[in-house]
Amino acid sequence: MSKIIVTSALPYVNSTPHLGNFVGSVLPADVYSNYLRMRGDDFIFICGSDMHGTALEVRALRDKTDPKVLATQLHETAKSLFLKFGCNFTYYGSTHTEQNKEITDQIFNALYKNKYITETQHELPYCNTDKIFLADRFIEGKCPKCGYESARGDQCDKCQNLLDPKDLIEPHCTICGKKNIVFKKTKNLALDLEKLQPKLEKFFEQTSKNEWSKNAINETKKYFKEGLRPRDISRNTKWGFPVPLTGFEDQVFYVWFDAPIGYIGITKEWNAPKWESYWKAKDTTIVQFMGKDNIVFHSILFPGMLLGSDLGYTLVHTLKSYEFLNWEGKKFSKSRGIGMDMAEAISVVKDPDYWRFALMLTAPENADADFTTEGFVESVNKIMNGKIGNLLQRVLTLINTNKEIFDSTAKVDMAVSDKLDDLVKKYTNFFEKVELREALKTVVEITDVGNSLISEKEPWLIAKTAQSLNDPTSAKEFSVIMNTLLKISYTVGILIFPFVPNASARALKYFGIEKTPTLALLSKAPKLAPKLEPKPIFEKLTDEQIKKIKSYS
Ligand code: MF3
Ligand code: ZN
Repeated sequence: MSKIIVTSALPYVNSTPHLGNFVGSVLPADVYSNYLRMRGDDFIFICGSDMHGTALEVRALRDKTDPKVLATQLHETAKSLFLKFGCNFTYYGSTHTEQNKEITDQIFNALYKNKYITETQHELPYCNTDKIFLADRFIEGKCPKCGYESARGDQCDKCQNLLDPKDLIEPHCTICGKKNIVFKKTKNLALDLEKLQPKLEKFFEQTSKNEWSKNAINETKKYFKEGLRPRDISRNTKWGFPVPLTGFEDQVFYVWFDAPIGYIGITKEWNAPKWESYWKAKDTTIVQFMGKDNIVFHSILFPGMLLGSDLGYTLVHTLKSYEFLNWEGKKFSKSRGIGMDMAEAISVVKDPDYWRFALMLTAPENADADFTTEGFVESVNKIMNGKIGNLLQRVLTLINTNKEIFDSTAKVDMAVSDKLDDLVKKYTNFFEKVELREALKTVVEITDVGNSLISEKEPWLIAKTAQSLNDPTSAKEFSVIMNTLLKISYTVGILIFPFVPNASARALKYFGIEKTPTLALLSKAPKLAPKLEPKPIFEKLTDEQIKKIKSYS
């Protein structure tokens, strides 16, 4: 069986991911992996913390702690948060490991040998107090265009003009606040993407047919059209992997270089004997999920590194890039208190399935989407609880209260059953195209078929007739309807698994299924587990919860 690697962009360890980050990468990757799990594939789901970068280094400097100690602590917190949200990684590792360092060096050395590494010259701001080169956002000063006092090195937030750190008037370092800044000439290493462009374009032509997101295709084409330029891979900072080249020993790799290699490094961290059988097999399919801000790293930079190194690593097959989720029409912003991060969300609503369901139903799959408290309440109370939970509850209760007349060997309504088969096909087709939100909407459609059948046929009245008149025809009619409804409920219980695994387990318990469901189960007739009192698999949100969520806007 050929292998599949599913990845989610590796979250920066430096900040707690908000719900927009979650729905834009880790959550869809997890949902898709769960589908492969049901299909019985040989796949791995790889994710982990992106440990390096100036943001982390500066934070450690401010807190007067060691970057490695800080990153390791934050990594543990991030990992446990994703687990709380029900994510089922094959492995959640990190980019700061021996394994990742080794593969990073190996890829760099091969790129160097194959002449894809060039040198670039810069004049960079350096804080003489902190003894550190300042990334653009750690240098601030007066904007030369509009006079705004706190313009950043790369852009003025007031007039929006793009800036160079050298343009700033009386710049200061935002770490120590002092104006002790000098500009130093440096030489850095860069990946020669200009030279790699023909190889990359050929790769893109072949691969982007495989269900790539539209925004990924468009953005990548735009880069090619403008012409690729060499891109720095080394920086004059301390936190990161040191560059293994004479003359550059005091520099570290730019975080974007070792982060995507992290997918490989984390796989090796997970399983030293097996990692190559995934990454170096020609027929491995790699499916990568990410937010739209990460497209270029996956469509150009990482493939460029792998093509240039020529070490036999498999390249991305399907690239799924999500748009952004806004919160009540605004951008998420910690400082302005807009939007919940994952820690806040799970402390208010503790069952991760509620978030998973609502988020996937509004996932920004093809366009930006908006999270609203009202929309969340609607998704949870009216759809998840009101349609899915309610269907199962009504069906089980109707059978439970009419046990004497229910014949579990009766047939099912063929017309409804055909409709159900069509909808299941629609669902699997959406998964094959990696359109996960549409797959979830199809589950809701299936539920609608069940709920309409109940209101149309009013089976409780038929049961009453059967019971009071002791009428076998009515009893049979009742059994056919209920068996049809059981099949629908059972199917829904299986199909919700990728999205809401806990609720799926609660539902499938009524059918005696205790293990991870498989798609093969769909063709088996459902059998009710004996003596189970039906209990709702969901609850409605409380007013208190709703009020708390509202307070984040
Ligand atoms: N750390 C980046 C972010 O959170 C994503 C890195 S993706 C990788 O936006 F491919 F570089 F790992
Ligand atoms: Zn400083």
